[in-house]
Amino acid sequence: MSPTLIDLSYLVAAVLFILGLKGMTRPKTAVRGNLYGALGMLIAVVATLVNQEVVGYSLILAGVIVGSLIGAYIAITVKMEGMPEMVALLNGLGGAGSILVAGAEFWRQVDEQGIDARIATALSGIIGAVTLSGSLLAFVKLAEYKFVRALKPLDGQQFYNAILGGFLLLMTLTMVFNPNQLVFWAIVFVAFILGYMLTIPIGGADMPVVIALLNSYSGLAAAATGFVLENNVLIIAGSLVGASGLILTKVMCDAMNRSLLAVLFGTVGPKDDGPSADEVYKTVKATSAEEVAMMLEVASRVVIVPGYGMAVAQAQHAVRDLTNLLLSRDIVVEFGIHPVAGRMPGHMNVLLAEADISYDLLKEMDEINSTMEQTDVCLVIGANDTVNPDARNNPNSPIAGMPIVNADKARTCVVIKRSLSPGYAQIPNPLFAAENALMLFADGKQAVVDIINALKEG
Ligand code: TAP
Repeated sequence: MSPTLIDLSYLVAAVLFILGLKGMTRPKTAVRGNLYGALGMLIAVVATLVNQEVVGYSLILAGVIVGSLIGAYIAITVKMEGMPEMVALLNGLGGAGSILVAGAEFWRQVDEQGIDARIATALSGIIGAVTLSGSLLAFVKLAEYKFVRALKPLDGQQFYNAILGGFLLLMTLTMVFNPNQLVFWAIVFVAFILGYMLTIPIGGADMPVVIALLNSYSGLAAAATGFVLENNVLIIAGSLVGASGLILTKVMCDAMNRSLLAVLFGTVGPKDDGPSADEVYKTVKATSAEEVAMMLEVASRVVIVPGYGMAVAQAQHAVRDLTNLLLSRDIVVEFGIHPVAGRMPGHMNVLLAEADISYDLLKEMDEINSTMEQTDVCLVIGANDTVNPDARNNPNSPIAGMPIVNADKARTCVVIKRSLSPGYAQIPNPLFAAENALMLFADGKQAVVDIINALKEG
């Protein structure tokens, strides 16, 4: 294939990527957007493979087979609630891929590369390694491995980060004017530590921000590698991932009421542990499915607030059946969707769409909050941090300032969860002990099925 034809294919691929991103901004066009993106990627891969510069196909084929088998196995076996960890790992692997490709090119052409390619190689190593270690840490934090709790930021962490940053600058200059393999791998090593240092203070409810940011970094690392290889489609695709990831980070920051700069420089972190669970849960009242059904029967407006527990329980289909049953009885039903409910951006929207719940019923946090006081029953299903009033009322809470769905402002709030265990932020929730709140201790799916049965019998 001639170079012009290859560039033309890359152009078509780039246009498809942009159309794909545009499609994915709306639920109705998201599937089409995804297809455009996949088609663009297929064209880019085929055009790259038929490039005359490819010296042999056997290693590429072996990589494709091994990679596809691993990818297919993971895609088939991953559980819905394991998706965020998988996304974190994939971001990290993207960073690792960029380091290896840029590193191989540097090794192959160490004396022929110009200054611009050397700068791009160093950037690829830095951003790729920050992405890799940050994502590995995000992976273990999301998977909630116990040892993670023992990992704490150092005192005066910003000072050490600045020193590491200074080192990276010095080594990049060295590599540009005196190209050397050892310096490249030293850059990767220091950046790997920096990625850890930048990610370690971020935890609890702020994790969504860091995931979006690492996703953006993986794109920027790929774009830098595109400059090393002088490959236009890699530059464009990497920039698109970098830019869209940064926009998502900003959206997440706004949702969490955090500053983007504080996240970029790793200065976001928990404030204190707040009051103990025993203090907070003195006045908790339990209820039953039958009692909840009686409340719903006489309600005229019900708001359902789903959270991570709904994903764990796979309760979305039962929730759809309950919604349809209530709607058939002329009860107004709406969903209050918190932007960081669950463990990945759009987690609740994806689950509810899977169960064919109409998008018209899904309301964003601000919209639902303005109607919460006129709500007879707010049914919280497996949500915790995203309905924790401490975020609003307690300036010392680790989640202080984070906007929440004001479930506590409904006339009655029923919380479905299995126990009084904390949510992702590991803090107690005063909503569970509020005067207008009742706890239905059960698995999310079972509880909703029981409520439906009680409603049908009642
Ligand atoms: P969480 O605060 O994580 O609480 C989930 C609750 O679900 C738990 O308290 C748990 O209580 C309950 N649960 C678990 N399994 C259940 C089951 N089978 N049936 C019923 N309940 C079950 O959830 P949230 O309100 O959605 O908040 C999300 C949190 O994750 C936020 O802190 C957010 O910042 C963080 N986070 C979000 C993301 C993104 S991008 N969305 C990414 C990383 C982290 P029991 O064990 O007592 O049942």
